[in-house]
Amino acid sequence: MNNKIYQERRHALAKQIYAKSGGGIAVISTATEVARNRDSEFPYRHDSDFFYLTGFEEPGATLVMEVKSSGKDYKHQAHLFCRPKDIEREIWDGIRLGPEAAPAALGVEFAYSNQELDHKLGELLADQDAVYIRLAESAEADRRLRHWMKKVRGQARAGINPPSELHDVEAFIHEMRLFKDAHEIETMRRAAAISARAHIRAMQMCKPGLHEYQLEAELLHEFRNSGAQSVAYNSIVASGANSCILHYRAGSTELRSGELCLIDAGCELDGYASDITRTFPVNGKFTGPQRALYDITLAAQEAAVAMTKPGNTFMQPHEAALKVLTQGLLDEKLLKLSELGSLENAIETSAYRRFYMHRTSHWLGMDVHDVGSYREQSDGLSKEDKPWRVLKSGMVMTIEPGLYVRPADDVDEAFWNIGIRIEDDAVIHDSGCELISRGAPVKADEIEATMKNA
Ligand code: GLY
Ligand code: MN
Ligand code: MN
Repeated sequence: MNNKIYQERRHALAKQIYAKSGGGIAVISTATEVARNRDSEFPYRHDSDFFYLTGFEEPGATLVMEVKSSGKDYKHQAHLFCRPKDIEREIWDGIRLGPEAAPAALGVEFAYSNQELDHKLGELLADQDAVYIRLAESAEADRRLRHWMKKVRGQARAGINPPSELHDVEAFIHEMRLFKDAHEIETMRRAAAISARAHIRAMQMCKPGLHEYQLEAELLHEFRNSGAQSVAYNSIVASGANSCILHYRAGSTELRSGELCLIDAGCELDGYASDITRTFPVNGKFTGPQRALYDITLAAQEAAVAMTKPGNTFMQPHEAALKVLTQGLLDEKLLKLSELGSLENAIETSAYRRFYMHRTSHWLGMDVHDVGSYREQSDGLSKEDKPWRVLKSGMVMTIEPGLYVRPADDVDEAFWNIGIRIEDDAVIHDSGCELISRGAPVKADEIEATMKNA
């Protein structure tokens, strides 16, 4: 494990803590295991913030960062609390790193058994001015903090003072996570390449008479067979009318000739998500109305891609996509120009929302809807007045326009139950954006050719 990147991240965080409070203690715990029933657990997934700072995937661990002033600069030491070695438990649950091996493996200065956390925190918080935690993380985290503070307050007569400042450490970490380094981008490229192959596999296995869950199985096969640890989110395999349900899961609906199948699926690889959507005809050939709406959606995505570059705001790709989608809806008479008067009015009045009800982008990273503020920091401005985030090199976001037409009396029946989304993952570079998920075909003709060549 290359522990240098995690050390560097801890130092970058320590520097910000020093700048804000002149020092302090930061406490970041990983996720807890969750029981499914009796002695069965849900698959364990580490906490992304904790993993970002440690590269450590075991449950039961807490990172404590001690930041002190040393003359004009700061000094930082990392204390890791982790599960102790336990032969009996390791026979059942697997090997543990253990505190003895942790400093060499993870580059932390100190490591202890997690059973010592409460005791040590009482010591580490003594005479510190500031504590950095994730605010309102859980009742258990609040209870522990109260317990540690009580311990320190109990030493008042010995002249020891408890911290008097409480800060949210999450804001610092999330701002760091918004900008991906070369190692992260490379991992995300690999994750997206696996997911793209999974989409191709599903397209090529698709035929009328199969069920949605069978295509989900093909996706999972490609993810795991390629070494991805898990899905980044529950796969959506939505055929026919289901394609218009935004958060549909892969169900048991039979795939029928003449209908579309929308797949939104991405793997998680080495802690990083990918997020791809493709929409294709179950029988391998788009109908006229399907193709018309597909081409509009792809043109909207292309318009958004062209706006995904440094210096533009997060909203500009969305606005570009909206314009193309709304014009397409007017052209296809799904929106009536006679009623709306103009494209601008159709956008202004949100008339398009009936057919396009979500945003075009979100940050992507360790989490599928990744962390990081969507607005610039502008103290004193109300939420609505804060400018949208300016895009910069190192950010990663999805570009995912769609059109969803549900049956209605005032909608041409030829378009009923057509749900289309096209989603790619974009890494922003100085020169523009790189679509890392384009291993999956996206043009209608390419999709048809891919399915034909199965
Ligand atoms: N798969 C979740 C999303 O596209 O936002
Ligand atoms: Mn997405
Ligand atoms: Mn998606």
